[in-house]
Amino acid sequence: MNQLICPKCKNELNISGKSLVCQNNHCYDLAKEGYVNLLSSNKNGSLIGDNRDMAISRRDFLNKGYFSSLAKALEEELKKTKTVSPAVLDICCGEGYYSSYLKERCDGKFIGFDISKEMVRLAAKRKNGVTYFVANMTDIPLKSECIDFAFHLFAPFYESEFYRVLKSGGTLISVTPGEKHLFSLKKALYDTPYENDEAPPKTDNLKLIEQRKVSAKILLNSNEDIQSLFKMTPYYYHTSDDNKKRLDALDSLETETEFLLNIYKK
Ligand SMILES: C[S@@+](CC[C@H](N)C(=O)[O-])C[C@H]1O[C@@H](n2cnc3c(N)ncnc32)[C@H](O)[C@@H]1O
Ligand SMILES: [Zn+2]
Repeated sequence: MNQLICPKCKNELNISGKSLVCQNNHCYDLAKEGYVNLLSSNKNGSLIGDNRDMAISRRDFLNKGYFSSLAKALEEELKKTKTVSPAVLDICCGEGYYSSYLKERCDGKFIGFDISKEMVRLAAKRKNGVTYFVANMTDIPLKSECIDFAFHLFAPFYESEFYRVLKSGGTLISVTPGEKHLFSLKKALYDTPYENDEAPPKTDNLKLIEQRKVSAKILLNSNEDIQSLFKMTPYYYHTSDDNKKRLDALDSLETETEFLLNIYKK
């Protein structure tokens, strides 16, 4: 916990009973699930990001292991770190599938945050030994240069804060969809599906040292799983009701997954 700083005055936060407190007496209560809300604005975190149903559907889908090829690749990359017990950060952690997977298999001190309170609540409920908090990636409540290895999956990119929290020589892996990611799902939805653009997030200071693609076919064998996967994608928000209905008739679907690991060093 001693890497956490107060979102208001940026001083260190320390545990006091069931709260985190800074030297200026700004106080943040630990929720019963064990996470803490460190959103710097006055906004209510529960109003931002995915709602509870979307969060539960994402958790149940990922728990079935459909994206385990990505989790495995992250494990391989983390195990390349030479630091003993590295500080590992899951940026925009969602409901915590990947940080849980890595914590079970790798040495390190794990922390994760997301702007969605529903997501962080589910992550904390995993009781997996990872420290979770609600925060905005544009103002990460962590000390500068405290992270050895950060990963960031399918989320908006904000280089200046990612750069600030990484130690010199630290690694950031930002994962974006490869050109054929979920192409058969898109074929089921649209007459003319497009492939994804594989350009990595642009950076001024972080140095892109490798792009590694991880591909695997997955077989979704229920309509529930097909709908859950669809809800996790950005297409869910941009598809007409008529096109959405095309998925209703499917009770199995084989589709490509392609994860692009953009590996950066500070
Ligand atoms: C597509 S989900 C990916 C979640 C997780 N990384 C995964 O792959 O399972 C994108 C996540 O980014 C989070 N997010 C979006 N904007 C954010 C911000 N400004 N700060 C922190 N989290 C943010 C959302 O709440 C959501 O959980
Ligand atoms: Zn403070």
